[in-house]
Amino acid sequence: MTIETPTRTRESPDYRDSGLEFPTGFLIGSATASYQIEGAATADGRGPSIWDTFSATPGKIVNGDTGAVADDHYNRLESDLDLMVELGLEAYRFSIAWPRIQPTGSGAVNEAGLDFYRRLVDGLIARGIRPIATLYHWDLPQALEDAGGWTNRETAYRFAEYARHVAEALGDRVPVWTTLNEPWCSAFLGYGSGAHAPGRTDGAAALAAMHHLNLAHGLAVQVLREVVPQAEVSVTLNFHVVRGDGDGSAEAVRRIEALANRSFTQPMLVGGYPVDLIEDTSSVTDWSFVLPGDTEIIRQPLDFLGVNYYSTTRVRMWDGVSPRERADGHKDVGGSPWPGSDGVEFLHQEGPYTAMGWNIAPDGLEGLLLSLSREHPDLPLMITENGAAFADEVIGDRVFDDERVDYLRRHFTAAHRAMEQGVDLRGYLVWSLLDNFEWGYGFSKRFGIVHVDYETQRRTIKDSGLWVARLIDGHVIPE
Ligand code: NOJ
Repeated sequence: MTIETPTRTRESPDYRDSGLEFPTGFLIGSATASYQIEGAATADGRGPSIWDTFSATPGKIVNGDTGAVADDHYNRLESDLDLMVELGLEAYRFSIAWPRIQPTGSGAVNEAGLDFYRRLVDGLIARGIRPIATLYHWDLPQALEDAGGWTNRETAYRFAEYARHVAEALGDRVPVWTTLNEPWCSAFLGYGSGAHAPGRTDGAAALAAMHHLNLAHGLAVQVLREVVPQAEVSVTLNFHVVRGDGDGSAEAVRRIEALANRSFTQPMLVGGYPVDLIEDTSSVTDWSFVLPGDTEIIRQPLDFLGVNYYSTTRVRMWDGVSPRERADGHKDVGGSPWPGSDGVEFLHQEGPYTAMGWNIAPDGLEGLLLSLSREHPDLPLMITENGAAFADEVIGDRVFDDERVDYLRRHFTAAHRAMEQGVDLRGYLVWSLLDNFEWGYGFSKRFGIVHVDYETQRRTIKDSGLWVARLIDGHVIPE
């Protein structure tokens, strides 16, 4: 049965312009990550990554999903590039799969793997879309994990070698680079809570991983500056906007901000680790992983800071409720992503919520941008991810995702307010271009502005995609 649906296009009159305009040069686009969309997990010499191993382990991913096929983007590159043109994207943020470039994480370059990214970047440039390349979005070569992964200092040096190979191959055509995506997740969900690959549950390992990720970032920035001096270099962090609940919650806020945010911003942007973070975690680790000279390597001037924002976090000190009943939006799978913070309780927050159960709080984005720009006044910012999962359905040839449109409208408006207050925000990339493999949630959560039917690989631009297209057309937020 065919259901007749009204056709909504980017020109449809049901969106009025709000008058809230973004300046020319402000980049509006979308983002993805290699393991979440590419599929083709063994094509052209790609080696296994920790996410192949983790998702093949029973019980780790909802419905037993894996990224083996995902959106089959690897084989559908040209038509996906054309989709980006239909949406009018000005910039596209993608990540490079390390195991395609070096199947075992070190040694010779696999040219066939690199070719995919050459085609991707050339295709973007030919279509007038600015490429923003992330070097690491969580798909560590399994062979490196077998040698200790991010708990092993050597991994940082392997990362710098990999960065050099990629920069040498693509540096002439990629103008913007990001070293790491959300290293908090790699360290604390990967080695602390165990919700992410490689699934370890050891607080000391998580803190060592945090440091080696910081070191990897610093080394990679040095390499990028040497090989592609003309390029812009950044890192993308997932800031926790932490709010206290009631008397005495300031201590809980301080601890979580230290572990989630200052654990990366301070070493990368200021120099050295926060003293309170070292004290809070002294029963977990002696911090002997920090060696002389590391502080200088990690602190590198950046051209902008990538900000990923989805929702807020509410905490207070533990008052007798089991901390296992935490409501921090992360699955409790055995370990804790917060080593040394056992006394902190995560509280449920007021809705509305997205399909992830995350509360919708655009004011959190505005406040975050304002506070980052106050703390680092000379560092431009870019929203490298913002978006929402909802339970979308294709009806006829449309996806009526009004909730996502509303989410995006409110967050773009919050970003606009921050800019009016002087924040130097350079762009905004919506997560995500396509529905994709949402890590531990598999394909059960849809973040795309384009719907993907995983049976047929058919793409359908959602109403939110049309809304984004309209926004880009006029550089004015549609109402
Ligand atoms: C941030 C991560 O970078 C991305 O991979 C993920 O899909 C989104 N958050 C949504 O959870």
